[in-house]
Amino acid sequence: MSRSRKIVVVGAHWGDEGKAKVVDNLVDNPENTVMVRFAGGANTGATLVIDGQKFVGHQLPVGVVRPGLVNIMGPYVACDLEALVLELRVARENGAPVMIDPRAPIVLPMYKALDRARDGGGTGPASIGTTGKGMGPTYAAFASRYALRVGDIVRGRNHLMTVRDRIQAYHVELLAGLESCGVSIEDKAFEFEAQLEQCLEYAAEIGDVVGDTVRYVRGVIAKSEKDVLFEGSQSIMLDVLHGWPYCTSCFTGIDAIGNSFGIRRFDQVVGVIKAYSTRVGRGPFPTEMDEFTANIVRERGGEYGSTTGRPRRCGWLDLPALRYAVRMGGITCLVMTKADVLCNLMTIPVATGYLDPTGTQVLEDAILDTELLAGVKAVYQSAASWAGPLTLERNLSGFPPIPAELVAYMEQVERATQVSIRGLSIGPDRKEMIWFERP
Ligand code: IMP
Ligand code: MG
Repeated sequence: MSRSRKIVVVGAHWGDEGKAKVVDNLVDNPENTVMVRFAGGANTGATLVIDGQKFVGHQLPVGVVRPGLVNIMGPYVACDLEALVLELRVARENGAPVMIDPRAPIVLPMYKALDRARDGGGTGPASIGTTGKGMGPTYAAFASRYALRVGDIVRGRNHLMTVRDRIQAYHVELLAGLESCGVSIEDKAFEFEAQLEQCLEYAAEIGDVVGDTVRYVRGVIAKSEKDVLFEGSQSIMLDVLHGWPYCTSCFTGIDAIGNSFGIRRFDQVVGVIKAYSTRVGRGPFPTEMDEFTANIVRERGGEYGSTTGRPRRCGWLDLPALRYAVRMGGITCLVMTKADVLCNLMTIPVATGYLDPTGTQVLEDAILDTELLAGVKAVYQSAASWAGPLTLERNLSGFPPIPAELVAYMEQVERATQVSIRGLSIGPDRKEMIWFERP
């Protein structure tokens, strides 16, 4: 029997790199696979295109579309009960088992309201353009030890009453916060008792899938029973430490797996990148395209948020940022997606360095300090553009032909990051993928 694989898939840009498609492609046999979500929550929009049909996952792994594949939601995933019950239905219809950790913090409805009110649709002074899914207030509640957790609601009303006071204390603070943001706290949805009652109703729907995911995943690995695929969400650059304050509210890389599951060795940590980059929400983006070019790329690449519908900001490939993400994320190989979107462009600028804010020094690496990053200017080289369309049809050597210019483009990325590109996605469908060496 061959040894089971432990593979992590993380984003190496600012999210939306195509992680879902990559993790889905790594499944050998669904019945022999466990897929694990280890961070983030319903802020994620994980898109799969299967024979022209689009599926968007949020907080469960995208393995819910595969009969027999076991889907895990770990203890560090923010649990939005409303979104969860919808996704659970999909999993049940597909015959894909699910297990949710009892320690996962719950996103209460008022956390979402507060997230939206604070962010003010991306224009307020403290706004960064969040997805409005309540991530900030939920992880803040968790870190401040006020969170309600999945285990608190599935153990029934009596248990819930034992943690009630602790949660209500935070609720009072948040109500004041909402009021200061100009939100009417008379809204029924913010009533404390009503929220608890709603949680108890959801508990009845999810109770049978709550279990110790840490024990389960560790057991599977100890017995080498199944492949374990860790599906990252957001990205290293949106990590709460690396991207602060223009970031999501949790760790997004392998650290989150280590802390949740005690697993720190993997066969591969796959970083997913696009042939260009995008970012949704505010924050420094040194390679941002001019609006004319961005419009072309956005339309061709369908660059609109899959959770929020927002148009994504588009930029060129940023090698300093990528080097940073590879090193900080412990990334061991890359997959490049959306190479088809750049076909037949006139020129393809690639940022090879940053001119520092004083204009005297070229930096090869991105900087941890986002304020400093906001002041740099990208230094570009021009890559030769490739002609499309890219196709899966194999030539005499048995490989799909890839234009020499695109090969050179990938080689430039490999030289800059010192890791190899193992796969190339040339279209949205699950099948439109070329593996040079599949992990
Ligand atoms: P939050 O995670 O909703 O708090 O949003 C924080 C930042 O991360 C914002 O800039 C969001 O646009 C960004 N973000 C969160 N989730 C995703 C995602 O799945 N794709 C792209 N950007 C995201
Ligand atoms: Mg997405």
